[in-house]
Amino acid sequence: MTNTVFLRSLSVALLAWMPWMTPAGAYAQDKTPFTPPSEASLPSDKFGDMVRLGKDLFVHTHKLRGKYVGNGLTCANCHLDAGRHANSAPLWAAYTIYPAYRKKTDDVSTFEQRLQGCFKYSMNGKAPPPGSLELTALTTYSYWLATGAPVGVSLPGQGYPKLDKPAQPPNIARGAKIYAANCALCHGENGGGTKAEGAYVFPPLWGQDSFNWGAGMHRVDTAAGFIKANMPLSKPNSLSDQEAWDVATFVNSQERPQDPRFRGNVAATKKAFHDEQCLYGDNVDGHVLGSRKK
Ligand code: HEC
Ligand code: HEC
Repeated sequence: MTNTVFLRSLSVALLAWMPWMTPAGAYAQDKTPFTPPSEASLPSDKFGDMVRLGKDLFVHTHKLRGKYVGNGLTCANCHLDAGRHANSAPLWAAYTIYPAYRKKTDDVSTFEQRLQGCFKYSMNGKAPPPGSLELTALTTYSYWLATGAPVGVSLPGQGYPKLDKPAQPPNIARGAKIYAANCALCHGENGGGTKAEGAYVFPPLWGQDSFNWGAGMHRVDTAAGFIKANMPLSKPNSLSDQEAWDVATFVNSQERPQDPRFRGNVAATKKAFHDEQCLYGDNVDGHVLGSRKK
């Protein structure tokens, strides 16, 4: 056996023995965040134009209000820095993990279908049809942000962080105090956000202009992870895990637009779709969440 052959078979054996040494595993273990390309590198051709349109729709989603959008939010309100920010469900980490099975739809979703989901629930709107200019532009923008990323690997910073269960059960009253002290300044005492010249500078967290009862953010665990890593905007990771759980519970104990999968009454809708960590259908101070008449 020559030295080279011996070394090669030794390293093959080692690689098989140490799964984290495989190239994909090595990438997932590496905590260095993935860096999406800079805008300066975008070509000035039709591809570049499509990427720019996708970014524009992602950041100025209100342009689609009435057509595909039914609230006052933009995609970038929950996917910070125009979908680039790690730990706020960045587009570069999302693009490469679809098609994927989703429990919510109990089916395999393509990337386009995943985008449609955020229109229907987070934007309380109507999803643009497959193949529409809007979905093509948003997909092209996401694809471009993922330039050089490995396919089928969950990159560090994907999604929102998952927090450990809190030491004490999350509590609405404690959450209300945290909200008043840390959030109301920007999002308003009544959660309705803050507007300047007709547009939201700080997005609404509840009420008719916010995400609906079917959106991922209405789940307390999802909101707690987002809030911990991203809010208050100027001081991410400053809340304790317990505070993040408490304030997420407070925010999600407020009324918001109906779940579009509504089955005619709250109890039936809760039974069919809300076997998850959320307050939909709960009685809070004598009011059943999800039952507000418009
Ligand atoms: C300094 C102002 C500021 C403070 C304080 C602040 N936020 Fe935000 N928040 C923002 C902005 C701005 C966005 C949208 C980010 C963007 O578009 O880049 C946002 C987005 C959000 C979102 C997602 C969008 C939505 O409307 O649902 C949630 C949830 C949220 N904040 C919760 C909180 C909570 C809870 C606190 C207190 C712990 C808090 N924020 C404190 C400015 C703030
Ligand atoms: C109210 C907050 C909110 C808004 C607004 C919002 N999203 Fe999302 N989005 C979420 C949440 C929550 C998830 C699930 C993240 C998780 O649980 O890891 C998500 C997931 C996604 C994913 C998949 C991410 C992944 O890693 O699997 C994509 C892609 C996406 N959103 C695109 C969009 C687009 C496009 C828009 C605008 C049309 C939008 N979102 C608006 C909250 C929001």
